Amino acid sequence: MAKNPVNSTPVDGSSNDSDVMPVPESASVPGQELVLVLDFGGQTAQLIARRVREQNVFCQLVRPDLPVERIRQLAPRGLILSGGPASVYEPGAPHPDPAIFDLGIPILGICYGMQLVCQAQGNEVSPGTQREFGRTGCHVVEEGELFRGVPRELSVWMSHGDQVKNLDAQWTTLASTADCPAAAVRHHTRPIYGIQFHPEVTHTQWGGQLLGNFVKTICGCRGDWKMSQFIEQQVLQLRERVGTSRVICGLSGGVDSSVVAALLYRAIGSQLSCIFVDNGLLRNNEKEAVRKRFGEHFHIDLHVVDAEERFLSELAGVSEPQQKRKVIGRVFIEVFRREAESIPDARFLAQGTLYPDVIESGGSPDGPAATIKHHHNVGGLPAELGFELIEPLRDLFKDEVRVLGQELGLSDEMIWRHPFPGPGLGVRCLGEIRKDKLDVLRQADAIVLEELRKAGLYRKIQQAFAVLLPVQTVGVMGDMRTYQNVVAIRAVETEDFMTADWYPLPHEVLHAISTRITNSVRGVNRVVYDISSKPPSTIEWE
Ligand code: XMP
Repeated sequence: MAKNPVNSTPVDGSSNDSDVMPVPESASVPGQELVLVLDFGGQTAQLIARRVREQNVFCQLVRPDLPVERIRQLAPRGLILSGGPASVYEPGAPHPDPAIFDLGIPILGICYGMQLVCQAQGNEVSPGTQREFGRTGCHVVEEGELFRGVPRELSVWMSHGDQVKNLDAQWTTLASTADCPAAAVRHHTRPIYGIQFHPEVTHTQWGGQLLGNFVKTICGCRGDWKMSQFIEQQVLQLRERVGTSRVICGLSGGVDSSVVAALLYRAIGSQLSCIFVDNGLLRNNEKEAVRKRFGEHFHIDLHVVDAEERFLSELAGVSEPQQKRKVIGRVFIEVFRREAESIPDARFLAQGTLYPDVIESGGSPDGPAATIKHHHNVGGLPAELGFELIEPLRDLFKDEVRVLGQELGLSDEMIWRHPFPGPGLGVRCLGEIRKDKLDVLRQADAIVLEELRKAGLYRKIQQAFAVLLPVQTVGVMGDMRTYQNVVAIRAVETEDFMTADWYPLPHEVLHAISTRITNSVRGVNRVVYDISSKPPSTIEWE
């Protein structure tokens, strides 16, 4: 895997010699139960960790070949071997340290992981007669501890070409499907289990129960982990890593960077400096809210950079969407860099990268063959800034970050904010960007959000906003003919922002929004509602 120079140190500062994902170091919380997922590059490996955390057992991904001495040091209660794209019999396929099987702790192999554990115990793995993808019926043959509380028939999610064949007498079959006689197995004398399907995905019924049975009944975890312990652990790790240096955090006003700032503040207090860039493309009152929250409430060393003029002058005459993004990104880096240089002793840069922001090609992050592309929330800060990167949220999913934010004392309003793109209103003010147009858009946008909150819909919708169209239409106001702009309203429901449905806003809400905008926002005489899904549209208009 290509090394990213800023990302070559794990978040916890551990000294493993490759760019692995964070591994809890000596700074882990004493007495905290831990389950490790050895990541063989499966698309859903991180989801396994998240499902285990849902059972209130702390769980983290580690590299697949983590040496057994290190695993012993970390003292996990159990190991889960994830799925992955390789075939266990191929040369160069990733394998765990073979000594893990002698640790005596429970091991669960999922999909590729199951094939690994069975192969390691001397069984044959080969291509199945039938590749199995998607939902399939599964019959529980023997309940054992793994299937306790699970009905005899359930629907499971398969995604494999290979399967384990002719298991020796050391193994018991726990469940099978039409095409896979050994869909779940257990070793007779050792605490080793294998599941060919994916219990971590929601399409598998009772998947949470299965993983819960593994970590609680089989591994014997109490299941008393809470997000507050994650904070405790991160605080210890961050203090150890940062030492007496200073950390810079780019605040965007969004939930992710706010949570990172609050977490760092808890860990290192006055050693944290936050930079908030006003690029002139912000929503109403955004700058003031950040100043209040972080400057006045947390007393963080907050640098608000007023760069509106600089951004708008560089954007003058630019109307092509990708070009706008490029200009905004470039100027952001320049402005940020200049401010960062004015902060003495800054060694680290903290970012609110979440697990879903780590966009993968060919596998999960730090899996053997993964090429990682980071989608930086802050707006794309490059390695050349010369800081070491701190990404304390990179193992977490959005809803976990919200729980974390709550524990850190951030307000509900902050925690449930809709995402706002890095280029801000720049991609919602279609065509050329000008301050007068942005002011119109800001007013319309504020009305949309206010009306949604008033109607109790803000949290039901994942993203909603106004778009100012570069189109003028004829209207009539009083006895006067008008020729003014059109505002479009966008509101979407989505799970992952990769696909989205337009939200059917009630007529009375649309009515209230439209009336308020046309009555009070000068320069707008028409409001339209965007009824396009993604695909084929995108959420943003540019
Ligand atoms: P699209 O428009 O691609 O948006 O359907 C999906 C999600 O990504 C956000 N978005 C961006 N975020 N920089 C960002 O930080 C960008 O350039 C950008 N473009 C889109 C968008 O708001 C939505 O949540």
